Amino acid sequence: MGRIPEETIQRVIEANDIVDVISGYVPDLKRAGTSFKACCPFHSERTPSFNVTPSRQFFKCFGCGESGNVLGFVMKLENLTFPDAVKKLAQRANIPIIEEEESASQIAERKSRSRLIELHNDFAKFMHERLLKDPRAQHARDYLNSRGFGAPMAKNWKVGWHPEAPAQVIEWAKSKGYKAKELVAAGIAAASDDPRRGLYYRFRNRLMFPIHNDFGDVVAFTARQLVEDKRSGKYINSPETTIFKKSKVFFGLDKARREIGKKEYGYALLCEGQMDVIACHERGFLCAIATSGTALTEEQAVLIKRYTKQVLLCYDSDAAGQDANKKAFVQLARQGLTVKVVVLPDGDDPDSFMQEHGAEAFQRAIDEAQDFFDYKIRYEAKQRDLTNASNKAEVAAEMSVLIAAMSDSFQLQAALSFVSTRLGMSEEDIRNASRRQVRQDRRVLDRQQALRERDAEEQVVLEPIVLHDALAALCHMSMNSVEAYEWMQEQIEPLFSAVEGYVGERVFRYLISTQPRPESPAKVLAYLDSMPELYKISLTPLYGHLNPNRTVAQVSDPLAEAQLVFKKLSIAALEKQRKQKTLALGDPHLSSDELRSLQEELLQITQILSEVKK
Ligand code: UTP
Ligand code: MN
Repeated sequence: MGRIPEETIQRVIEANDIVDVISGYVPDLKRAGTSFKACCPFHSERTPSFNVTPSRQFFKCFGCGESGNVLGFVMKLENLTFPDAVKKLAQRANIPIIEEEESASQIAERKSRSRLIELHNDFAKFMHERLLKDPRAQHARDYLNSRGFGAPMAKNWKVGWHPEAPAQVIEWAKSKGYKAKELVAAGIAAASDDPRRGLYYRFRNRLMFPIHNDFGDVVAFTARQLVEDKRSGKYINSPETTIFKKSKVFFGLDKARREIGKKEYGYALLCEGQMDVIACHERGFLCAIATSGTALTEEQAVLIKRYTKQVLLCYDSDAAGQDANKKAFVQLARQGLTVKVVVLPDGDDPDSFMQEHGAEAFQRAIDEAQDFFDYKIRYEAKQRDLTNASNKAEVAAEMSVLIAAMSDSFQLQAALSFVSTRLGMSEEDIRNASRRQVRQDRRVLDRQQALRERDAEEQVVLEPIVLHDALAALCHMSMNSVEAYEWMQEQIEPLFSAVEGYVGERVFRYLISTQPRPESPAKVLAYLDSMPELYKISLTPLYGHLNPNRTVAQVSDPLAEAQLVFKKLSIAALEKQRKQKTLALGDPHLSSDELRSLQEELLQITQILSEVKK
């Protein structure tokens, strides 16, 4: 039998409103506040305990416990298999179903995926119960309370607590019949560096937030530290698996997707953190979503576009947030979406803002969301004097990059005329700056693509590259100090020639050509996450906030340190050249011209060397 594509199933669910469908089977379904009630069709009763919640497209009977979405309802009531229920509802909504043929390997893969999903669902449930009941999780409950949340929030998001003791997890896995191998495949456990030590459990003693796919299955976790420990991130996510591709998922979208299109919203509210999404939903802002600590990807922009034409960005107002804003805008504008910015006071995120000022104030901030370019120019005007010609030119160039990303020509024209009016420049000037930028962007992209392809060919088994000490030091400085990073950016050409031939050269080049400024740990971590896997595993141990004691010690003056390393590298490179030339001079067959030019070169190298060594 063929298989129905997931997209089709999704469309079928979306096209069949649960209230419409159920009232076809249960005519006495009546509105009761925000939900609908009736006597349960699955067991006999006199007072209605069967509930349908349109906002969640979900039914539940509080009498017999049956629950599910529209497909689950039809399956149970008509006693149909899943594919038959899909076909039935597809017919109702006039959606054609084309089945895919499955090969043996596809069948095997599907089975292992569904096993992995089952494990995630079970594990989430286990950890959720621990959070609610386990005496050892008291501190986790206290922490949630301290952030203004209680059991209802924990239940709504199936928040869990990952035990501190691995034995507790091992015991659970045994009781459920999950093998250690499966825990590793799910990213819950991993082999430790030392093979004698066996597995380690990466989420120990963390607060666990399940990440759901569109069907409401748990496919990954995002985990927050309960005890601050600088050796690891405040938040960590499950690694990518066959069921979890970070760049394709939003935290909260399983809840928000039905809300986003409604007339009270008509937009998606894109936050920076998972806690912000939760705080928004808990206070009635049901269209909030977030990426998992990474910059918005093209795939995510495409995904949002399925639900709405408008996105409100609600990132922190710090430098990292500015950068995230721009990156998100570029992706969203490429898909032709309208972007606005919700402005909160400096240092606030939606969660902290609502704690302090309440939901109504946040609603006002949403109502006053500014058009992206309006926001951007106001922001720039606060940073620097825009009557100054060179500042203006810089801002125009920056705006032109952003304008160049817009695919909707009507919006592009509007942005162009807005920006030129505000800056007092001609549209033509800005359009030209924008064209130049498009050409340059394309060159950078091509280069990155070429690097990626080469890596894909070469790397079959991924072993981290152990960088040469000097390169390791430079990478470390660039990821830990804005100053050092900027300096390296300025030295990019000489630096690249100085590192030529060293182990890890390519990793270093990639880092320096693509890294965002290392303003915050969150940003660097997100950046690391976005790197090609090989580079990521090679660089992660060098990133100081994660592991200050490994490879490169914390230094007091990273810029000076970077300069010193560069100097040593330059000297080494020059000395190598000198040796080569000296050797060449020993060749008895040299013509007198060749001899003279070699001697000149040698002299030059010696002079530069003594300059550099000063
Ligand atoms: P923030 O540091 O702004 O945290 O990081 P937050 O969301 O306000 O978290 P709380 O309120 O302290 O709990 C923003 C986002 O960056 C990612 C996470 O997705 C986080 O929500 N992040 C941050 C990481 O992935 N790792 C980190 O170590 C820190
Ligand atoms: Mn926060």
